[in-house]
Amino acid sequence: MIDQRRLPAEYSIVTLESAAAVAEAIREMVVRGAPAIGASAAFGLALAAARSTAASSAELWKDLRAAEQMLRASRPTAINLGWALDRMLDRAQAHTEQDPDALRGLLVAEAQRIADQDVAINRRMGSHGAALIQDGDTVIHHCNTGALATVDYGTALGVLRTAQEDGKSIHVLVDETRPRLQGARLTAWELDQYGIEHEIIADNAAGSFLQAGQVASVLVGADRIAANGDVANKIGTYMLALAAHDNRVPFYVVAPTSTIDLSVVNGEQIPIEERPAAEVLNLQADGEPIAPSGSRARNPAFDITQHRLVTAIVTEVGVLRPPYVFALAEAVKSARSQWTSS
Ligand code: MRU
Repeated sequence: MIDQRRLPAEYSIVTLESAAAVAEAIREMVVRGAPAIGASAAFGLALAAARSTAASSAELWKDLRAAEQMLRASRPTAINLGWALDRMLDRAQAHTEQDPDALRGLLVAEAQRIADQDVAINRRMGSHGAALIQDGDTVIHHCNTGALATVDYGTALGVLRTAQEDGKSIHVLVDETRPRLQGARLTAWELDQYGIEHEIIADNAAGSFLQAGQVASVLVGADRIAANGDVANKIGTYMLALAAHDNRVPFYVVAPTSTIDLSVVNGEQIPIEERPAAEVLNLQADGEPIAPSGSRARNPAFDITQHRLVTAIVTEVGVLRPPYVFALAEAVKSARSQWTSS
């Protein structure tokens, strides 16, 4: 996989040879973005199966369970991680009568299916969402939701790519996305390659652009969507949604149905990852740390945007509008029948 920590300065590929290495890569954000970590975890489990020396399916199952727990614990907020692992385990469990080699083959194939379907799903979200973008629009985008955050193409960035492929001219204001700067580092890097016009803005400039009437819509991805439509996404999303709402600018969330978690009733039940304080304190100017030495910091990686602030949720099965409770449940049902049987 691409080592996303080194972009844009360096495009380097790392090779991971065990489930433990995949779990570590997810935790350290070598790979990041909800769909990308889901697909990575699936390949991590396939790797655990391939590497296991188990001679019976029962022994292989034990090795799979150990790897699954390690992978599941690597990051807590994005549900795509658990979704992909559950799908892999369901596949294995349905074929426990098969010999271990057949099971290994099934798991590798299922991981590849998850990856291939992710790209197809992103393309579908792209065409549903592009209808919301008009020629000449300026939009604000938060974090990174492009090819890097998925297997390929992207969610919210995928919508912008489709709009551009449809011949629309768009301008993207790219939130830097402190503290890890996924916007300034990764989204700007991707948009440059797609030839989409963009400017990087400090996160705290977004409200002012919205207030000035210069923004047609705001587009973000999601790490988990609760049954009522509350959205967990990169820290800063909530403030952006508030500013969009106050200025009557549409706020669109673009996410596959694998990001919807009907088992959590609302956003308060979604676990929010707290990352190391060093990610906040490491900021430097002229080689010197900005913060006084010994400063303490808080670093929640995600926040919750209440469903009342979300204009629409773009999924692979269509654009969902409030009330979300019914729309989300229907979308999950319809996606399940489309993607798990094929
Ligand atoms: O901490 P990250 O970089 O993994 O957070 C990523 C985001 O918050 C994205 O917006 C989300 O995963 C959707 S990516 C298609």
